[in-house]
Amino acid sequence: MLGLLITGTDTGVGKTVIAAALVRVLRARGINVGIMKPFAAAKGVFSRKYRSKDTAILARAAHATDTDREMNPFFYSVPASPYVASAVTKQKKVSMHTVLDAFNNLAIKHDIVIVEGIGGLMVPLTETETFADFVKILNLPTIVVARCSLGTLNHILLTVNASKAYSLDVMGLVMNDFPKRATAVDKQLLTAVKKLAGVEMLCVIPKVATVTNKRFKIEEIVADKILPRLHIETLSLRYFKNEPKGEAT
Ligand SMILES: Nc1ncnc2c1ncn2[C@@H]1O[C@H](COP(=O)(O)OP(=O)(O)O)[C@@H](O)[C@H]1O
Ligand SMILES: [Mg+2]
Repeated sequence: MLGLLITGTDTGVGKTVIAAALVRVLRARGINVGIMKPFAAAKGVFSRKYRSKDTAILARAAHATDTDREMNPFFYSVPASPYVASAVTKQKKVSMHTVLDAFNNLAIKHDIVIVEGIGGLMVPLTETETFADFVKILNLPTIVVARCSLGTLNHILLTVNASKAYSLDVMGLVMNDFPKRATAVDKQLLTAVKKLAGVEMLCVIPKVATVTNKRFKIEEIVADKILPRLHIETLSLRYFKNEPKGEAT
């Protein structure tokens, strides 16, 4: 596995939080993790080093030394889809060629590249290409992050349908932001997702007070429920070196 995509049913559902947790969990196991936020759009740049806040969060989690432009080839300075943002700001339009080159360069340098999407699968990159086209070209195994609040079932089913239309390799769903005091509706939502989504529900992440203080709780769930699905033993020779010496077969 060269890469893994974390997409979402919408913007603000927890893609960055889940991707960063996964990066930290992999790194803690001796995997050389690269990160990519191929397309980002926000009101102005985040810092001198990283134009996008998401790139900054993920690069920090990975201890990445790659440049901002390698990890985030396309940044737009208005919060909108790349298609709309490039028209408004007159910044360069997305070039699939550029972004695929950037991914390949990162994939050479790292055991695995965790890629965070932008918005959801149908975000238009250009007049003729969506974010799902990018995922399809790379054939990246995909995790879909969804929120647990009103409207999410509709977004989940739309996302799963879109992933089928593009023949994407969806590993499963992460239900994020599950309320602390769950009501009957909250609990039934999870049952409904299991029954209706048509893809596996990988895990449920609780709503935490502050992500920075409680990130270990999220990492624990990710390590327990998602990591075993990634077959990391095939990713890195260094991983084996970290294993206690025993009967190597
Ligand atoms: N499980 C959670 N508990 C509490 N806050 C969360 C949780 N997941 C995400 N958040 C917060 O919600 C906001 C959106 O999350 P983020 O990961 O940036 O979403 P996305 O990358 O999908 O836009 C952030 O402020 C983040 O810290
Ligand atoms: Mg994000």
